[in-house]
Amino acid sequence: TPYDIDYKVLIIGESRVGKTSIIKRLNNEGFSESTISTVGLDFVNAFFNIDGVTVRLQIWDTAGQERFRTITRSHFRNTKGTVLVYDISDRESFEKLEYWVDNLSNMNLDREVVYIIGNKNDLESEREISYEQGQKFASRNLVKFFETSAKNGNNLQEIFKTLAFDILDS
Ligand code: GTP
Repeated sequence: TPYDIDYKVLIIGESRVGKTSIIKRLNNEGFSESTISTVGLDFVNAFFNIDGVTVRLQIWDTAGQERFRTITRSHFRNTKGTVLVYDISDRESFEKLEYWVDNLSNMNLDREVVYIIGNKNDLESEREISYEQGQKFASRNLVKFFETSAKNGNNLQEIFKTLAFDILDS
């Protein structure tokens, strides 16, 4: 697919929050209930048309499991956007956001466009973190906040299109 501009985007967050499921859904690969934890790095390309400009987002999936974490500054020197993911049905994954935000500033990625996404909002009956809590944390860190579900695809295309727009605009 031809494109005009190409940006590298990083997805990070705790293990099992749904990072791989999000990028699979963006890549039209559907959803599976059972997945294998990511080891190392993988990426998909997603294309968005923004006012006649075709933007290619090269979206990098990272390993959430500590022993597989390989994110280093050099890997992501040209990152333009970072998406921090937690699971709305898992309080601990939300509490760990603090760690990931610190990590971003250590890698000097905090000056790029950063989003926080609460995933699995199809699991309303298991919800442990309210929309307002997510929003409050994001606004305290001056970043945009969204909820989504990789399972039903709710809102996902729109979120990444907005991200492409914000990067283009930054
Ligand atoms: P690591 O590779 O270990 O970092 O995990 P990950 O963040 O990539 O999570 P992954 O996409 O592998 O998903 C973990 C589990 O959550 C799998 O069983 C998925 O099917 C499930 N899952 C992911 N997204 C959703 C969602 O939106 N809703 C529901 N109900 N389950 C989800």
